[in-house]
Amino acid sequence: MNATGRSAPAHPPANAPGHARGGAPVLELEHVTLELGGRVILRDTGFVVNQGEFIGVLGPNGAGKTTLMRAVLGLVPAVGGAIRVLGQPVERGNASIGYMPQTRSALAGRRVRGRDFVAMAADGHRWGLPHADSKTRADVERVLDLVDGRELAERPLSELSGGERQRLLLAQCLLGNPKLLLLDEPLISLDPHHQKSVVELVRRVQLELGIAVLFSAHELNPLLNSLDRVLYLGSGVAALGTVDEVITRPVLSRLYGSPIDVMRVNGRIFVMSGDVEVEKHDHEHEQDENGGHAHSHAHGHAHGHSNRHDSGDGHTHDV
Ligand SMILES: Nc1ncnc2c1ncn2[C@@H]1O[C@H](COP(=O)(O)OP(=O)(O)O)[C@@H](O)[C@H]1O
Ligand SMILES: [Mg+2]
Repeated sequence: MNATGRSAPAHPPANAPGHARGGAPVLELEHVTLELGGRVILRDTGFVVNQGEFIGVLGPNGAGKTTLMRAVLGLVPAVGGAIRVLGQPVERGNASIGYMPQTRSALAGRRVRGRDFVAMAADGHRWGLPHADSKTRADVERVLDLVDGRELAERPLSELSGGERQRLLLAQCLLGNPKLLLLDEPLISLDPHHQKSVVELVRRVQLELGIAVLFSAHELNPLLNSLDRVLYLGSGVAALGTVDEVITRPVLSRLYGSPIDVMRVNGRIFVMSGDVEVEKHDHEHEQDENGGHAHSHAHGHAHGHSNRHDSGDGHTHDV
């Protein structure tokens, strides 16, 4: 097995599976191939995520970030290879995984109180607190404390900011003490200030609990200070490694299927195709999706770099 994707660069043995981060393997992919609608999303991919790692999952829109998470949850069966969570083959409803799906825009209008909203996700208590047993209620309070959410718990969702709702969504994911969190684009539609606080919160909780997190995002920069390693997807390939190993011209050019430059400015990293920042361009439409908090990114116009691995119309617009 290989700690990076099949054709990813060589890297120091310190990154070999099971080494370096101290923890035991939480997620293992071995020669995994994923397909959707007959199209290959990931091809013959292997990597290992260890206990206590914060992994930033990056890659152009349509690269397969969501599909990978759904595969780990057992919702998308691998057509080849093996996926193991804590050494066991994937299964649906695995209690050791907490999942925050990408689609959350409907929440903003809900009148439900924060605490009841968190409780809805508790196992066997989908319909709220009144009937929850004491063990469930204690778990709800535990996760609210973890995200510093006692005060939010008293207020209806509709009165919370996007960042505050994210805290409650994170609390939901933490119910039942999962060992692996799959957080799919928690930063979508948040302004930079709230993005920062969500990333810092996830990092704090992740370190406190010693769990592993896969955190997918449009952009690397908001995650830079918090992540341990990056899992970059593109062209059906995955590269897992430190920022210095993965965010490089050769690796990203292969993943994007076109020449990519990597610029570092004042501690920030910009992934460029010509004079266009690819991460921002690729997700322009998603930023607009939820109506609020559009970022004021300046970016270029039409260009030909993106999603060359896609046969059809490349861009997906997640709903
Ligand atoms: N149900 C589906 N059937 C066929 N193709 C799909 C389906 N869902 C997503 N796809 C395609 O699979 C690819 C990967 O999508 P996704 O995992 O959502 O990428 P990401 O989360 O990185 O944006 C995209 O090209 C998308 O168009
Ligand atoms: Mg996605």
